[in-house]
Amino acid sequence: SIRSVKAMEILDSRGNPTLRVFVGLENGIMASASVPSGASTGENEAVELRDGDPRRYGGKGVLQAVNHVNMLIAPEVIGRDPICQAEIDRLMLELDGTPNKGRLGANAILGVSQAVARAAALNANLPLYAYLGGPGEFRLPMPMMNILNGGKHADNSVDFQEFMIMPLGAACFAEGLRYCAEVFHTLKNILKKKGYNTNVGDEGGFAPNLKSNEEACEVILEAIEAAGYRPGQDIALALDPAASSFFEAGTYNLSKSGQGKKSTDEMVALYEEWVRRYPIVSVEDGLAENDWPGFEKKTALLGDRLQIVGDDLYVTNPHYIRRGIAEKASNAVLIKLNQIGSVTETIEAIQLCRQAGWAFVISHRSGETEDTFLADFAVAMGGGQIKTGSVCRSERIAKYNRLLEIEAELGQVALFQNPFGKQ
Ligand code: PGA
Ligand code: ZN
Repeated sequence: SIRSVKAMEILDSRGNPTLRVFVGLENGIMASASVPSGASTGENEAVELRDGDPRRYGGKGVLQAVNHVNMLIAPEVIGRDPICQAEIDRLMLELDGTPNKGRLGANAILGVSQAVARAAALNANLPLYAYLGGPGEFRLPMPMMNILNGGKHADNSVDFQEFMIMPLGAACFAEGLRYCAEVFHTLKNILKKKGYNTNVGDEGGFAPNLKSNEEACEVILEAIEAAGYRPGQDIALALDPAASSFFEAGTYNLSKSGQGKKSTDEMVALYEEWVRRYPIVSVEDGLAENDWPGFEKKTALLGDRLQIVGDDLYVTNPHYIRRGIAEKASNAVLIKLNQIGSVTETIEAIQLCRQAGWAFVISHRSGETEDTFLADFAVAMGGGQIKTGSVCRSERIAKYNRLLEIEAELGQVALFQNPFGKQ
């Protein structure tokens, strides 16, 4: 049973405070987990509790959340069997007592939830992916790799937040990762030759001052070909415009690139044109989080050809996912543990996707740590897709390296498939 629960304040990849939680068992097993943090957050996400004390970290300290783990959560959780994940998560929800985890903080609750899962896995002598996934097949996720950043993740002239590549033609995860890394390095050379800067954004993708959002697709396609791959067949494109971040007073304002203001219908038309012009297989948050009619229009128009992913729209919350399924607002969901704030509720969100026949993509946040929980979680959930940034910045690489380890450990039983079927 659990003997100790203790949190501390650490730093994330942007140098902002976050929590690391340690869970110790009676038999001496000690597990820890660290909590990520977003920048282009959905307005309905569970509350990330920050101290607001301007004398520490510009108000971003998390000592209150640390205190909630140590003083309020620990006494309730100590003595319980770590295998009772659902019960422990429910207990924390009850202790919090608010609909959005505003009292204890979703960061406090999630840290404990993840560390409990790790402790239980160690106690069962199983790798985390096997403990959370149970027996059955083990599917390695197709990376949806962000190699060009804009929006809120970079100070440049690109409105759309993430331009990603997916190595659909690769035979295994390791090969797919290699395809992506080769394109990343080739892209760097191409950007340099064109006179663009090659500094990276928060998720490790390049952040050049391109002339338009289209140029981002074009320069990536150039890199895919120059690296020796066939765009579309070997490597396809995926986008996360994160449109909530440029939606102002009812219009989509492409102000960073100077491409003007667009209505919902004009945005849907833009995506339709892009899907015809470029080998794009997935678009996440192409419309703003409250533009449900826009999502429905887009799904009706493009849903048969395109994976349409809701991130800010659903915030990994079963309540909004149910609405999305009823209204056919998309055909896929982005899954972020810290948007909802516990392992159990995240798994519930994924169950809903499965029941609806929807795809789901397990995702990091733009503020991450070296914790690799996400890699194991993606394999355990078996959805076959992961977003965990570029092949640059060690907080991203840590997840990719963990996936390489898992694939090697699984050997023959590891599955790796194109989530969209044959290209
Ligand atoms: P965030 O961005 O972690 O900054 O919210 C990631 C995303 O929008 O997918
Ligand atoms: Zn997103």
